[in-house]
Amino acid sequence: MCGIVGYAGPAVDGKALDVVMEGLARLEYRGYDSAGVALVCDGDVVSDKRAGKLANLRGALEAAPPPSSATAIGHTRWATHGGPTDANAHPHRGGDHDQIAVVHNGIIENFHALKNELLAAGVEFRSETDTEVAAHLVARAYDEVGDLTEAMRQVVGRLEGAFTLLAVHADSPNTVVAARRNSPLVVGVGDGETFLGSDVAAFIGYTRHAVELGQDEIVTITPGHYEVITFDGEPTSGKAYEVTWDAASAEKGGYDTFMEKEINEQPAAVRDTLLGRTDDAGELVLDELRIDEERLNAVDRITIVACGTAAYAGMVAKYAIETWARIPVEVSLAHEFRYCDPIIGPNTLVVSISQSGETMDTLMAVRHARELGALTLSICNTHGATIPRESDAVLYTHAGPEIAVASTKAFLAQITAAYVLGLYLTQLKGGTWADEARAVMAALHDVPAKVQEVIDQMGRVKEIARFMADTRSVLFLGRNVGYPVAMEGALKLKELAYIHAEGFAAGELKHGPIALIEPGQPVFIVVPSPDEPHGLHGKVVSNIQEIRARGARTIVVAEEGDEEVVPFADEVIRIPAVAPLLQPLLAVVPLQVFALHLSSAKGLDVDQPRNLAKSVTVE
Ligand code: F6R
Repeated sequence: MCGIVGYAGPAVDGKALDVVMEGLARLEYRGYDSAGVALVCDGDVVSDKRAGKLANLRGALEAAPPPSSATAIGHTRWATHGGPTDANAHPHRGGDHDQIAVVHNGIIENFHALKNELLAAGVEFRSETDTEVAAHLVARAYDEVGDLTEAMRQVVGRLEGAFTLLAVHADSPNTVVAARRNSPLVVGVGDGETFLGSDVAAFIGYTRHAVELGQDEIVTITPGHYEVITFDGEPTSGKAYEVTWDAASAEKGGYDTFMEKEINEQPAAVRDTLLGRTDDAGELVLDELRIDEERLNAVDRITIVACGTAAYAGMVAKYAIETWARIPVEVSLAHEFRYCDPIIGPNTLVVSISQSGETMDTLMAVRHARELGALTLSICNTHGATIPRESDAVLYTHAGPEIAVASTKAFLAQITAAYVLGLYLTQLKGGTWADEARAVMAALHDVPAKVQEVIDQMGRVKEIARFMADTRSVLFLGRNVGYPVAMEGALKLKELAYIHAEGFAAGELKHGPIALIEPGQPVFIVVPSPDEPHGLHGKVVSNIQEIRARGARTIVVAEEGDEEVVPFADEVIRIPAVAPLLQPLLAVVPLQVFALHLSSAKGLDVDQPRNLAKSVTVE
């Protein structure tokens, strides 16, 4: 939530502004209520900020270009304190002559008390934000100590909550100071220029040399240099790493939307997440986990914590891991887990699933789990993010950057990584368990090509979506691993097309939801594989008949060769046959495509749906 960019470089005409605006464009998916920039120019700080999307700010800057500068900060906002207005947009200014500008991601929880203190001292506020408090505090501290880093250090010691703060001062023409607690911040190191970003996408067009910062650290960047200290003032160093993807990965690459591109990248996301995880004999090798086999073999219970789409990936994993490894798995929404009394034993493994690795609810759940003594493992798509850094072990998904706010390829990669984990735990049990794990892994390697087949046959789904542009409600049904797929289909439709949608376990229908069925009600049904071992295929076919008899319009996602569904389906969307527990990787694709095209048919913004932001870094 909120995207932050900082730059300190050479005095090349207009470059600082260009870098920051480009960075904001790449980070706009993190929040798009308003945007702003501040530049240090000739002993002054110049800023501009506008409500609405980045285009509004761009227009304003084109109409009244600021003076050239070598140092700049920028912000794209998802509103928390104070509505999305020009006044509440960042940067916020502080000091008698507005000599400070500050941008902020997160929430300063004790801002009321601090604001009252400042009001009593005669400070005038120009916004309703918590951030403005930090701007005034840094300005006042600077007046006393005459050094921006020290001023920031003194202020962060007084702040409670989560924050990444960036500050520039009129008297420090080549310096940006940043501090982070519970909120993301990375440094980019170029040749004679240094960058700051909420994530590496902010500067990927300029450098792939990144430095990850720890919790409660302050970094001071100048052209080509950076220095890190802790909130206690102790010198420290960040952890340098190379970003493995390039700027092209964060661009649309000829597609109309990032979401469309990311749906098309799903075969690669699954393939890359499997890459290098088996040896020549087909055995899983997960040295990267950094947990010894004995400890993993002793795991007798797994709790998965995640939110939204990632939680649905966790639900799919539950069915698979319980079947393969015979270890009980519970899935908890991270925000619920954090504020209850979970039962954690010495051999409980808490697995967090998060694309961004920064979701505050999930991070808090992981911390809670560690406090309770659990072993924690993070399935994450973002190198060096806070959640993997704070977990005992990490299994990275390799989906590449996901820019569209609605998650697609990360979902498939998360399911894949969770399968890999489950199969590894199965393999550790040895004997026939290991044989089964090897067989499933072999089947999993065939999945990317099958996902591609589904993507290649989406013509009819797009047509259905266009015909249904005026639909007011859609239901989704599934069973077993198809149940979380149904919920994911409903979530995609809600967030992208603003249509009421619900996903149900098909067996639950007769216990209430069937009352929703009236003539013409569209219902998607994810039909289990006819090979499903518990006989669920037949039961779902009966469910289709029941709702059809009551007038539902049935849109059935079924495997090739499954003819039993045909008499009761208004539409059949075919997916290739696959082992029953692997089916979610295929069955969810038509539901993603449906939501995408329904959203476009309604003329909505597919990549940046209203009220949302990628990476939810506040609780
Ligand atoms: C929905 C979506 C969200 C995220 C959720 C968790 O399309 O993207 O539901 O899945 O906010 O985000 P991460 O995976 O970054 O923790």
